[in-house]
Amino acid sequence: MREAGVQNGPEVRRRPGRDLLGTASLEVADACEILAAAHYLTPMVTGDGRRTFPILSGFTVINMFNEPSTRTRTSFELAGRRLGADVINFVGDASTSVAKGETPLDTALTLDAMGGDAIVVRDRVERFPHSLTSWLRARIVNAGDGRNEHPTQALLDALTILEALDRRPVENALKGVKVAICGDIRHGRVAHSNIRLLTALGAEVVVAGPPGLVDAGTQNLGGRQVDSLDEAVAGADAVMMLRIQRERLPADLKLPDVASYHAAWGLTLARTQTMAPGGIVMHPGPMNRGVEISDEVADGPRSRIRRQVTLGVAVRMAVLARACGVALPGVEPQIGEGRR
Ligand code: CP
Repeated sequence: MREAGVQNGPEVRRRPGRDLLGTASLEVADACEILAAAHYLTPMVTGDGRRTFPILSGFTVINMFNEPSTRTRTSFELAGRRLGADVINFVGDASTSVAKGETPLDTALTLDAMGGDAIVVRDRVERFPHSLTSWLRARIVNAGDGRNEHPTQALLDALTILEALDRRPVENALKGVKVAICGDIRHGRVAHSNIRLLTALGAEVVVAGPPGLVDAGTQNLGGRQVDSLDEAVAGADAVMMLRIQRERLPADLKLPDVASYHAAWGLTLARTQTMAPGGIVMHPGPMNRGVEISDEVADGPRSRIRRQVTLGVAVRMAVLARACGVALPGVEPQIGEGRR
């Protein structure tokens, strides 16, 4: 039974290190520490020549992905390898014992029993990664749980904005910064994690989306809802566009056709012209070009979409080191300083 995946476990003795379950449970100081470490590690992702930093040699990172992924799974794999860890990828498909009826919890217990130090989990059930913390010795990193949270995406998005503004990852680093998050807010775990983290860092977060794709609960997270994309984008320092999460929509929700959706809720070049000077465009991917974003915006000068992917590797390196309880040599004196 699928719901068995969220039951409480026997409270095992955990391995050293830290879970990362969501931005709801992440202190601002912790977030800044991860961002500072990721900033330090960024040249190891983007630089020329050898790009390894083997502080996790002898550690085991297991990626357990029960939902599709391109960016998150691949960048966690690359992050683990850059740090010298043994990285195992488990994708819960027909080639595994999932096809024989094994539950996600039993799969996770099996992977834990092989000696994983950190298990990176994506699952369609909300709070499934949270429930694993009372069952597994390994530290858990949430790589997306249903529509609830996607904390590493929010961290890499925060780093992208900080880098674009040339600001340091410190408390209130985003004070005076307007971030617009637009599209399917209701079913978007990226939106939920970002609203919490960016407001915690001091940003003004404005959300906008069509009827049925934004709910009142969003405002409880700290976002201010406005009625139109134009209102959200005007004066924004960063605009984050989100796709419609079709895999999570209720069957009875009626949405406009693609052309009407793009006309009302698509980020076009004309719309970006009302942004703040130097304002940036972001998208967590996968993009639906011609729906929530036009080609010319996705590939245009304001776009930081591929930079988000690059910084995602650095953020996940920092998160994996934290999950394994390993400090990054050379980082600690710089925590809170970030980019100069
Ligand atoms: N942003 C994101 O989570 O992308 P993937 O689904 O490709 O991992």
